Amino acid sequence: MTTTLTTTIVALLLVLSEWQRLEARDILPPGPMDAVVGKNVTLRTLLQSPKYLFIIWNFNDGREQIHVATLGAQGLKVNVPFQGRASVDAKSGALSLSALTTADSGDFSVNILSEEGDTETAEIQLRVLEPVSGVKLTANMAEALEHNSTVVLTCNAKGSFLNFTWLNGSVPVVPGGRLAIQQDEASSRLTIVDVLRTDLTRPIYCNATNKLETEKSAPFSLPVHYGPDEVTFTASQESEFVRAGSNFNLTCAVRSSPPATITWYQNQTLMEDTGPVLPLQAVERLPLWQQMSHYTCQAANAKTQRVVTSRSVSFAVMKPVSGVQMSGPAQGTVLLASNSSANFSCRAAEGPVSSRLWLKDGKQLPATGDEGRVMVAPDGTWISLAPLLKGDNGRIVCRLSNAVSTEEAAYQLLVNFGPEAVTVSGQSAVEVGDAIQLSCSADSVPAANFTWKFNATLTEIKTATYAINQAVYKNTGTYTCQAHNVVTGKSATFVHHLSVKEEGALDEGLSDGAIAGIIIAILAALGVAIGLVLYCRQKVPVESPY
Ligand SMILES: *[C@@H]1O[C@H](CO)[C@@H](O)[C@H](O)[C@H]1NC(C)=O
Ligand SMILES: *[C@@H]1O[C@H](CO)[C@@H](O)[C@H](O)[C@H]1NC(C)=O
Ligand SMILES: *[C@@H]1O[C@H](CO)[C@@H](O)[C@H](O)[C@H]1NC(C)=O
Ligand SMILES: *[C@@H]1O[C@H](CO)[C@@H](O)[C@H](O)[C@H]1NC(C)=O
Ligand SMILES: *[C@@H]1O[C@H](CO)[C@@H](O)[C@H](O)[C@H]1NC(C)=O
Repeated sequence: MTTTLTTTIVALLLVLSEWQRLEARDILPPGPMDAVVGKNVTLRTLLQSPKYLFIIWNFNDGREQIHVATLGAQGLKVNVPFQGRASVDAKSGALSLSALTTADSGDFSVNILSEEGDTETAEIQLRVLEPVSGVKLTANMAEALEHNSTVVLTCNAKGSFLNFTWLNGSVPVVPGGRLAIQQDEASSRLTIVDVLRTDLTRPIYCNATNKLETEKSAPFSLPVHYGPDEVTFTASQESEFVRAGSNFNLTCAVRSSPPATITWYQNQTLMEDTGPVLPLQAVERLPLWQQMSHYTCQAANAKTQRVVTSRSVSFAVMKPVSGVQMSGPAQGTVLLASNSSANFSCRAAEGPVSSRLWLKDGKQLPATGDEGRVMVAPDGTWISLAPLLKGDNGRIVCRLSNAVSTEEAAYQLLVNFGPEAVTVSGQSAVEVGDAIQLSCSADSVPAANFTWKFNATLTEIKTATYAINQAVYKNTGTYTCQAHNVVTGKSATFVHHLSVKEEGALDEGLSDGAIAGIIIAILAALGVAIGLVLYCRQKVPVESPY
């Protein structure tokens, strides 16, 4: 201790007396010098084998100066606080320190006393850096509200001389506007005023750096609740009437975090159903489902406490027309043309009917000319045909419609009439041996039965056709066809005259074909004759007069 004090006093005296020479040359490199806690450092001098009496190292931590070691002729003396950790190189005067702690940060000075009594002195700053560790990001809240919250992210780290940077994803955060960064020794704060949903979508990182190391925090993200934004309201079909039971629904889409709660309203009355899709069945459960109503949805965000209402859509649900039944004359009723009448009515088991149409074979009733005979009820519920005519046979259809559907029912109407317009077609004259075929027809419902009379005598023929394979003379006479309708009980006849002639009797006059054949034959014969004449003229030698 006394030696230390003595050397110090000696050193100080020399420092004062030799003031001029102090700045003469650099004996230590410029600082500061950085080293890491726990490691070793050597503070080298710029001298090469200096001549010295003493080399004295001192340490100043900013509060007080402590002697470290003195190297002299008697060897090295290390002061207690540095014992075991400090050594001075006898050649260069360099000071080595091991097992560094942060307490070693400060100014180290060296004094070199020469044999001539000169003193050289220099100082270097040593910074013992704690390694960077424990970089951690925290926020002042667990979740934020867009536009409302001021989010403060704090990055803490251990280590010395730390510098902090912030990254949004991989992009450095630049302070300005709503963003501010404040840094102190071991932490940095990133303040985001009126946070937006986009501010924190990518993870945020914080980097803590010192001269020797960099450490990145774990990715950090914070939910920023927002919305609901504007509601997109769609109806799967935009029309005044919606068919009951159809695949129809209303949809409400909205961006919101957390997802919005969707509620539905019929004419401002809250419905039981919630969720983004309202099926038609939900509307059909309401008492006013068949009435024209307007529907809206509302999106609410419990976190932001914002509520947004959609536009409204108006419609009424309508049951389709179904179970259409037509009633008319009872099955088995015999209807006679001109005598019977019929009354048809039509109704639907379900669904409101807004239009009723009566058709016969696809044409609307009453047709022109039916006035007075065909009557349609003012409300269209029945149609009456009085009297029925043969032309009424066919398919009677009633067609009931409303805004969402059309359904039909049909009745096959059978009006009995006739026979009318009985005619016989066939030859009126044949030659003996020719075949005879006579056909009888009649308009009749149901189809007429036929009987034939020959010369007032009933024959056994009961078909529409009267046929004889080979005519004989006695087949000449009158053929009377009688048509009979068993339902109307009416009969009608047609008389046909046929005469059987001798063979060839019907040949007078040639047929067109025969005439043509004859002309061709004559022309051919003529041609041959002319040819022969020409031929003979050439071949016959002219007789010589000599
Ligand atoms: C640091 O110094 C101590 C004691 O002087 C020595 O034992 C150790 O090997 C040195 N470590 C390094 C990394 O140089
Ligand atoms: C958000 O801020 C607005 C106005 O600044 C305020 O009216 C609203 O109540 C706030 N929302 C919440 C959920 O605090
Ligand atoms: C039509 O009815 C009248 C009486 O109602 C009857 O005298 C007449 O024979 C009937 N005509 C036919 C074609 O049935
Ligand atoms: C047809 O029948 C309906 C009942 O089905 C009846 O109300 C209506 O008067 C009838 N029309 C005629 C012309 O008889
Ligand atoms: C049928 O009547 C016609 C004349 O009306 C007569 O010429 C013919 O001989 C009669 N035939 C028979 C088989 O009676």
